[in-house]
Amino acid sequence: MKMMYYNVAACLLVIAVSNDMVLSCPSDCSCITNNNGVTVDCSSRGLTVIPRNFPNDSYRIEMNNNPFTTIEKGTFQNLTLLYSVLIFGSNLSTIETGAFITLPNLYIIDLEDNHITIIQPGAFKHLPAIYAIYLFSNQINAIQRGIFDNLQALIRLSLYNNQITALQRGMFGNLQALTELDLRNNQITTIQQGAFQTLSALQTLDLLGNNLTFIKNDTFEHNTNLQYLYLDLVCDCNFPFWSWLKSKSLFNDVGTCVDRDNIKLSSLHESDFDNCTYDSCYPDYCSNGRSCSQNSYGDLVCSCVGGWTGTTCTGKWNINSIER
Ligand SMILES: *[C@@H]1O[C@H](CO)[C@@H](O)[C@H](O)[C@H]1NC(C)=O
Ligand SMILES: *[C@@H]1O[C@H](CO)[C@@H](O)[C@H](O)[C@H]1NC(C)=O
Ligand SMILES: *[C@@H]1O[C@H](CO)[C@@H](O)[C@H](O)[C@H]1NC(C)=O
Ligand SMILES: *[C@@H]1O[C@H](CO)[C@@H](O)[C@H](O)[C@H]1NC(C)=O
Ligand SMILES: *[C@@H]1O[C@H](CO)[C@@H](O)[C@H](O)[C@H]1NC(C)=O
Repeated sequence: MKMMYYNVAACLLVIAVSNDMVLSCPSDCSCITNNNGVTVDCSSRGLTVIPRNFPNDSYRIEMNNNPFTTIEKGTFQNLTLLYSVLIFGSNLSTIETGAFITLPNLYIIDLEDNHITIIQPGAFKHLPAIYAIYLFSNQINAIQRGIFDNLQALIRLSLYNNQITALQRGMFGNLQALTELDLRNNQITTIQQGAFQTLSALQTLDLLGNNLTFIKNDTFEHNTNLQYLYLDLVCDCNFPFWSWLKSKSLFNDVGTCVDRDNIKLSSLHESDFDNCTYDSCYPDYCSNGRSCSQNSYGDLVCSCVGGWTGTTCTGKWNINSIER
């Protein structure tokens, strides 16, 4: 009889332990279970690596203010109920391939205010429910093609306060539902032809606080649902774009001309462009008197000579480093 007691007790202990393994909470984190699943809170715990043993019914994971730098492959694997991941104000610099993969219910990824520079291809994959990705206030300077491919439910993508310099064709591949794209306060000077061509649902596009000097008149031609377009640019001689803008009735265009006391581009008159030549290679696009042409993407290309370099021939070769 006594023996049986021990057996039963041992059995219960085994069950308790294995249950505990499955539903364990990463050490240093707190886990609270509610109707939707478990909310895991690992904020401000001084974590240098992201834990791996999240409860398999995690619903919300918060890990703000920690010193870890990387979201590794498979960090959230098998978390079929996972709905939101919030990591603000940490030291994140790299999002690895497979960081967010095959998460059927993931709805929000919020990685704002980190130091992210590198997003590896395949970092966001098989996320059929993803609605919003917030990457603002990081140090992203380039988005490789394919990073945001096939996120069919993505409605909001926020990339403001980064250091993106160019928008390439195919950069926002196949985001059929994307409605809001925020690229404010980057250092975008170039928008390649076709950069926005796959974004047929786009309604709001914010490009304020960039260094746009020229926008072509077909840049937004595929964005037939565009209603709010925010940009400030050098308007001198941008007649083709002005004329496109006039022909559209956007709900709100705050296209302001930084070279004309910030008046609205749409409030200019045709005569304001009187002294321009409407060549897309407008005068002075290439600095230092170099010649300008358009490549097959429709981008303006400067041919620099005489030691000048850079996209618009404003830089100088470092002679010493060439000779070495
Ligand atoms: C978590 O694991 C337990 C034990 O294997 C299983 O019974 C349960 O269905 C799993 N829950 C989820 C949401 O996958
Ligand atoms: C977790 O996911 C991986 C890869 O998707 C799979 O191989 C593995 O069997 C899963 N583990 C569990 C416990 O479901
Ligand atoms: C925009 O360009 C000007 C002149 O080239 C430069 O002084 C300024 O810092 C740039 N602004 C941004 C946000 O990169
Ligand atoms: C763009 O401008 C060029 C030259 O002014 C013109 O031939 C072309 O039809 C315009 N395209 C659009 C989409 O407005
Ligand atoms: C065009 O040039 C003429 C002659 O220099 C000048 O009087 C006029 O104000 C200029 N128009 C614009 C819109 O800059």
